[in-house]
Amino acid sequence: MALIKTPKEIAILKKGGALLSSVLREVRAACVAGVTTKSLDDLAQKLIKKHGGTPSFLNYRISPSDPGYPAALCVSVNDEVVHGIPSKDRIIQDGDIVGLDIGMWLEGLCTDMASTVMVGNVPKKTQELVRATREGLVRGISTIRAGGTVGDIGDAIEAFIKPKGFGIVRDLVGHGVGHSVHEDPNVPNYSERSAHRIPLVTGMVLAIEPMINLKGWRIYQRDDGWTIATEDGSPSAHFEVTIVVTDDGYELITPFPDEEVAA
Ligand code: MF3
Ligand code: CO
Repeated sequence: MALIKTPKEIAILKKGGALLSSVLREVRAACVAGVTTKSLDDLAQKLIKKHGGTPSFLNYRISPSDPGYPAALCVSVNDEVVHGIPSKDRIIQDGDIVGLDIGMWLEGLCTDMASTVMVGNVPKKTQELVRATREGLVRGISTIRAGGTVGDIGDAIEAFIKPKGFGIVRDLVGHGVGHSVHEDPNVPNYSERSAHRIPLVTGMVLAIEPMINLKGWRIYQRDDGWTIATEDGSPSAHFEVTIVVTDDGYELITPFPDEEVAA
């Protein structure tokens, strides 16, 4: 069932989303060659606490058999798609692309967002991947309005990404969010007939999150029980925002944390 948030809940989500975006902006700035991925999680935890929030990923389980997620921030480097676990042994290198994914509880409601940082001298094709993934997200959310359907989002993302020859991850999708980290409905980042049967309604809060691979769309999970990586080893980019559906469009709950103009 699609969960509709009340105006009061949306006000709280917006407050939390603005704070979360400021946290991610600071973590992005700290993501430079020579730092460990663990140091980025330490910073994220410190900033979330400073704002009076609670990390929503820490100890989270997607399915009951999962090990609880051990950090506040997912750090996914190069061929890692999402859910990379921060480590004191993993040092960011010049030329890496680094997906940073973060969620926060504030006053009983949670928001979710992600951004991919290009560190130093990134190969040109990989730069194109990162920019296209961000633009794919913008195209996807730009279609959103009450009276449309969840399927419109994936249609717009696929129409933009497919001609570039990049692989759209199919096994992981966007989702409702707010009362829990993952709620209905699923939001595919590709054209999906069944998603056209799910109407977008004013007050729905969705996390839209294209995961795009430079080559093939196939992924696998590493033995740590969390990290998702591309099967062919090609790099992967990920951007995510939380939005609320409105009568004539959408509003960002989590503003983009980077400098490019947000839609
Ligand atoms: N933003 C992530 C997602 O929607 C949530 C990560 S769950 C975690 O998949 F436990 F890995 F943190
Ligand atoms: Co998400």
